[in-house]
Amino acid sequence: MASLFPTLRYGGDYNPEQWPREVWDEDVALMRGAGVTTATVGVFSWGLLEPSDGEYDFEWLDDIMDRLHEGGIRVILATATAAPPAWLVKAHPEMLPVDVNGTTLAFGSRQSYSPSSSAYLEHALRLVTKMAERYGSHPAVEAWHINNEYGCHVTRSYDAESAAAFRVWLEARYGTIEELNRVWGTAFWSQHYSSFDEVGVPSATPTFGNPGQNLDFDRFSSDALLRLHRAEHEVLRRITPDIPITTNFMGFFPDVDYWAWAPYVDFVTDDSYPDPADPDSYVVAAATRDLMRSLGGGKSWLLMEQAPSAVNWRNDNAPKAPGQHRGHTLQAIGRGSDGALHFQWRQSKAGAEKFHSAMVPHAGPDSRVHREVQALGAELASIEGVIGEGVDASVGLVFSWDAWWATRQYATPSRLDYVAEVLDWYRPFLDRGVGCDFVSVEATDEVLAQYRVIVLPSLVAVPEALLERLDAWVTAGGTLVVGRQSAILDENLHVRLGGYLGALRRTLGVRVEEFAPCAERAVTLDGSVEGHGVDWQEFVVVDDAEIVASFADGLTAGGAAVTRREQGTGSAWYVATRPDAQLAGAVAARALAETGVEGLIATPAPGVEAVERGSVRFIINHSGTEQTVTVAGEGLTLAAHDAVLVPRH
Ligand code: GLA
Repeated sequence: MASLFPTLRYGGDYNPEQWPREVWDEDVALMRGAGVTTATVGVFSWGLLEPSDGEYDFEWLDDIMDRLHEGGIRVILATATAAPPAWLVKAHPEMLPVDVNGTTLAFGSRQSYSPSSSAYLEHALRLVTKMAERYGSHPAVEAWHINNEYGCHVTRSYDAESAAAFRVWLEARYGTIEELNRVWGTAFWSQHYSSFDEVGVPSATPTFGNPGQNLDFDRFSSDALLRLHRAEHEVLRRITPDIPITTNFMGFFPDVDYWAWAPYVDFVTDDSYPDPADPDSYVVAAATRDLMRSLGGGKSWLLMEQAPSAVNWRNDNAPKAPGQHRGHTLQAIGRGSDGALHFQWRQSKAGAEKFHSAMVPHAGPDSRVHREVQALGAELASIEGVIGEGVDASVGLVFSWDAWWATRQYATPSRLDYVAEVLDWYRPFLDRGVGCDFVSVEATDEVLAQYRVIVLPSLVAVPEALLERLDAWVTAGGTLVVGRQSAILDENLHVRLGGYLGALRRTLGVRVEEFAPCAERAVTLDGSVEGHGVDWQEFVVVDDAEIVASFADGLTAGGAAVTRREQGTGSAWYVATRPDAQLAGAVAARALAETGVEGLIATPAPGVEAVERGSVRFIINHSGTEQTVTVAGEGLTLAAHDAVLVPRH
C-alpha cells in the first residue's frame, strides 16, 4: 500500500487569523521544534477571505502560507466553505437550515447553510475556484481539505429547497410514483401518493411517520451533503489535478454513509475524540481506526483531528493523563494512519472553543501538554518506516449505514443501539489482538474471501445479494457469526416472511419466530459456551443446526440461544440474544479456533491492545493501572498508559 505522504504527518489545525502576526513567527519556530510537518489552514476563514460579496482579501493567507513554507511546514489547505459569512446569510436568508419542527437555525455559530441551498453552493464554488487558482501552485500545499466535518451540526434540513431536492432525488430513484408507493408501503394509514409533487420531507408528524420515507430522507440527506463535496471536488480536480483531496470524516457518525463518500477522497481522514475519562473509549477509537482503513480499501488514511488533552464540548471535560495521548496516537498509527494531526495548534484566546486543548496550550510552550507534543513528534519521526505499510485483518465485521438507519426507526421490537452492538462483537477480537476490518454490504466475493471469520452484528436491514454471497463464502470454508435481529428486513425495510433471517435461514439452519425483549435483564445460558444474554431472547426454530447453548430462563427457557451449523468446509453461528462480554468472547474464541486464527494476545488484559503494522508491533496499555500481558508468546509489563513498540523481523 503506497502512501501519499513521504513521512508520517504530524501537526494540526492552525488558525493564524486568531493571532497578531508577531505570534506567527513563534508558531513556525515552535512547530519546527515539535517535529510538526503539516498545518491545516483556513478551515473557518471564509468571512475573512471574502469580507463582502465578491471582494477577496488573500494577503494574510499569502503571508502565512509563505512563512510556513519557509519554515518547512506543509499545508493542508481548507477550501474554507464550512462557515458561510454573515453578508451571505443576510443576502440569502433562505439558505439557513430548518430543523424538523420548522425552526430556522440562525447565523452566529458555523455550518449556517441548508445542504440543498443553491445560494450556498454557488458562493462556495466561487470561493473554491479562487482558492484553487491562487494556491494550486503554492509549494506549501500538500492537500486540499474540503469544507469541514460535513453534517457535524446540520445533517439535514427541512426547508423548501431541501423538500424540492428530495422530490427530485425520489423521482430519480423510483421513476414512477407507483414504485415509490410500493417501496414505502403506503397502502397503510392512507399514505398513498398520486404524484411526486405531493411528497414532502418527514417533518414532525402526529405519530410514527412512514419508515420508507424516513429511510429515504436519511439516504437523501447523506447524498445532499455528498453532492456539495463532489461539486467542490470537481472544481479542485479540474484546476489542480495533482493535489490530493480529502474531507474529514467523523468516525461512527450516524448521518453520513461514508461507504458512499470514500470514492470521492484521495485519502480518508478522520476526527477522533475518545473521552479520556471513559476507560472503554479506546475500544470505539480502535474500531474507528479500522473503519477508516477499511473505507479506503487500500487508500492512505490520516488522523486529521484529535485533542492533545481535554475537549470543551462534554459536560465535564477531562484532560488526558500523562501518556494517554501517546496511546491514542500510536493506536491510530498502528491501525494504519499515516500520521496524527490535532485540533488545534494554538489554543484560542476567545470564541466558543477557548477551553479546548491545543498543542500550544494557554499555559504556553513551557507546559506538560506541549512537552508531550514535542516528545510525540520526535517519536513519530523515529518510526516513520511504517508509512505505506499495511495492517493484516482476518476478521471482517459487516457495517452498514442503512442498517443503522433502520435501527433509528420508531415502532420496532426494542430500541437497539447499533454501534454498541457492533462494538460488542468487535471487542473480543480487539482484546485478543486479532486484526479486524469493516466490510460493506456491497463487498464482492473477492473482498469476502480475504477473511476467515465474518461477523454480522445486528445487521437488521440487508440486501438479499449479500446473504447469498455469504452462503457461498461459508461453503468455501468461512466461519460466519450472525448477531440477533440480523436480516429481519430487506433493504426497503420490508419484513422477510416465513421466519426471520431471510436467506440466512438456509446457511444457519435456524429461523426466528418471535422476539422477546427483556429490558435490562441478563439471561442465563446452558451449554458449551460461557456467558449471558442481555435484554433480549428470541424464539428460535432449529431446522438443521447444533444447539451450542440454550436459554436457561426467561420466556424462551429451553430454546436455542446459540447455534452452529457446518456447511461445506465452513460453519455458521447464530446468537439469538445480545451477548455479554463473556459470551461474545467465548463465541469469538471458538470461531477463531476453528479457522486457525491466532490472536497476538492469548489472555486479554483490561485496556490492552496489540496490533501489527508492517515492521512494527504496537502494544498499548490504555488503562490507568499497570498491566501484565503475554503478546505473541512474550510476557511484558506495561505501566499505566504506557505503550511499547517492538520491531518485527
Ligand atoms: C471538530 C471540528 C473542529 C473543532 C473540534 C473540537 O472536530 O472539526 O473544528 O470544533 O471538533 O473538538
